[in-house]
Amino acid sequence: MKNMPAERLRGKLGGHCFSTFRVVLYKKNQILQGDIVREFGIREAAVSDADAIAAICSADLGYPCTVSLVRRKLESLDPRREAVYVAVAGGAVVGYVHVEKYDVLYFETMANILGLAVRSAYRHIGVGRALVAAAEAWALQNGIKMMRLNSGKDRSNAHDFYRNLGYTSEKEQIRFMKKLRP
Ligand SMILES: CC(C)(COP(=O)(O)OP(=O)(O)OC[C@H]1O[C@@H](n2cnc3c(N)ncnc32)[C@H](O)[C@@H]1OP(=O)(O)O)[C@@H](O)C(=O)NCCC(=O)NCCS
Repeated sequence: MKNMPAERLRGKLGGHCFSTFRVVLYKKNQILQGDIVREFGIREAAVSDADAIAAICSADLGYPCTVSLVRRKLESLDPRREAVYVAVAGGAVVGYVHVEKYDVLYFETMANILGLAVRSAYRHIGVGRALVAAAEAWALQNGIKMMRLNSGKDRSNAHDFYRNLGYTSEKEQIRFMKKLRP
C-alpha cells in the first residue's frame, strides 16, 4: 500500500471489488506467524457483521454496546454520507472503520473517521493501515480531499499509529455532553 500510487489504489478500491484488495494490498498483509500465513481482506460491512463489530467496539475500542444497537446502526447507514469497512481474516471480522462526510460551515467537506479498531491478536500486521486506506479511498471517491478524526487523549498508541500514517494534530479539544432525557 505504502508504495502504491494513489490512482492505482483508488482503481483497486473502486466499485465494490474488495475481493482483489487482499492480494494487491501490500506485502505486510501476509506475514508468517509460526507455520501459519495470516492474510486479511477489506470489504464493505454487511448487517450480518453486527455481532463481530459489537464485540470489537466493546473489547477493543472500549465502548460496550449491544449487537442489536450495532445492527440497527448498520441497517440505517446512509451510503451517500457514510461507509463502514471491515477487515476479514480466516473468515472472521477482525477490525472495522466507520467513515462519514464531515460538514461544517467554515471548512470544505472533510471525511471524519468515527470509529476504528482492530482485534488485539491482529494488530501490527497492517490491518489498521488498510482500514484507514479504505476510508481515505472512500473520501477520494466522494471528492473529499481532507481526513479528520478525534482520538481520546489517553489513546497514545493510536496517536502514534495515526502519526505514522501521516496525520498531524494541531490542537486539543474538550468534549462536552449533556443528557436531555433519562
Ligand atoms: C490503533 C489501531 C487501530 C492500529 O491498528 P494496527 O492494525 O495495529 O495498525 P497497523 O499494523 O496497520 O500499523 C500501521 C502503522 O502504524 C504503526 N503502529 C501501529 N500501532 C502502533 C503503536 N501502538 N505505536 C506506534 N506505532 C504503531 C505500525 O508500526 C505501522 O507502521 P509500519 O507499517 O510503518 O510498520 C489498533 O492498535 C487498535 O485497534 N487500537 C485500539 C482501538 C483504538 O485505539 N482505536 C483508535 C481510536 S481513535
